Amino acid sequence: MTQLALNLGQQTKLTVLTGDCAQLLPSLETESIQCCVTSPPYWGLRDYDHPNQIGAEPSPEQYVQNLVDIFRLVRKTLRPEGTLWLNVGDGYARNGGTGKCGPNAVVGNTKKLIQKRNCKVPEVWGLKDRDLMGLPWRVAFALQADGWILRSKITWIKKTAMPESVKNRPTNATEEIFLFAKSPNYYYNAQAVRQDTGANLRNYWMLGPDPGNHGHPAAFPRELARRCILLGSRVGDVVLDPFGGSGTTGIVANEVNRHAILIELNNSYADCARDRGDDVTA
Ligand SMILES: C[S@@+](CC[C@H](N)C(=O)[O-])C[C@H]1O[C@@H](n2cnc3c(N)ncnc32)[C@H](O)[C@@H]1O
Repeated sequence: MTQLALNLGQQTKLTVLTGDCAQLLPSLETESIQCCVTSPPYWGLRDYDHPNQIGAEPSPEQYVQNLVDIFRLVRKTLRPEGTLWLNVGDGYARNGGTGKCGPNAVVGNTKKLIQKRNCKVPEVWGLKDRDLMGLPWRVAFALQADGWILRSKITWIKKTAMPESVKNRPTNATEEIFLFAKSPNYYYNAQAVRQDTGANLRNYWMLGPDPGNHGHPAAFPRELARRCILLGSRVGDVVLDPFGGSGTTGIVANEVNRHAILIELNNSYADCARDRGDDVTA
């Protein structure tokens, strides 16, 4: 496959590719990306309306394997000192029962993929009805086993939590962001983002949602992307988001003078990312 080389001498700083990242990642130049900042769809949650979408696998095990395969491709595109900043969400197994909690129960968002499958999670990992799947750590361990160096787990504390109608557990208001390195000598600029006191940045980030979501149901806050990009890259570097969504990573990367490559499966989100960018190559 011909590799896509970014002409960094030109003004183009945001490149949005429409398609399946598993197919498009091999077209990126090997060892050309400094840092990847991304949030794949969470398993069994939203329907992004495409047969190749990640998150709609019949089992969470397959989801983990698909992410391992995709991030193996990402690793090839990273420079030796490159990093991956990965935000992954969790979910609950819904394995049956009847009535309010049964297979046809409406659990929050009625568009949940897990409900389309009649709430059935296949029998993997000994999951029982209502088990928290622990997916972020399952993905992290699988990536570690595949060769990534797991360097940090950052807890994103959401200032505004998504309302949940649960009465038998606390409302979820945190998510994980993992920092992975390609090699032990990776680039990390500890001076780029500090605590208010000037101390080294802590691994919990309290962030509120951005006003407006550009029509995307799962955009992450710009400040989340900004921190990862500033810590993980220099001015003029290339930042990648293979699950680009509404383009938050790319927009922020450009704001802090980095080039960005986004891949997004869904045409309308890819268009949205392009519209948000200054100077774009389709
Ligand atoms: C959680 S959202 C990312 C949101 C993004 N961080 C933002 O701030 O807008 C995940 C995105 O991955 C896209 N996606 C799902 N499967 C994909 C695939 N195989 N290749 C590329 N994009 C995919 C979905 O359409 C969705 O927009």
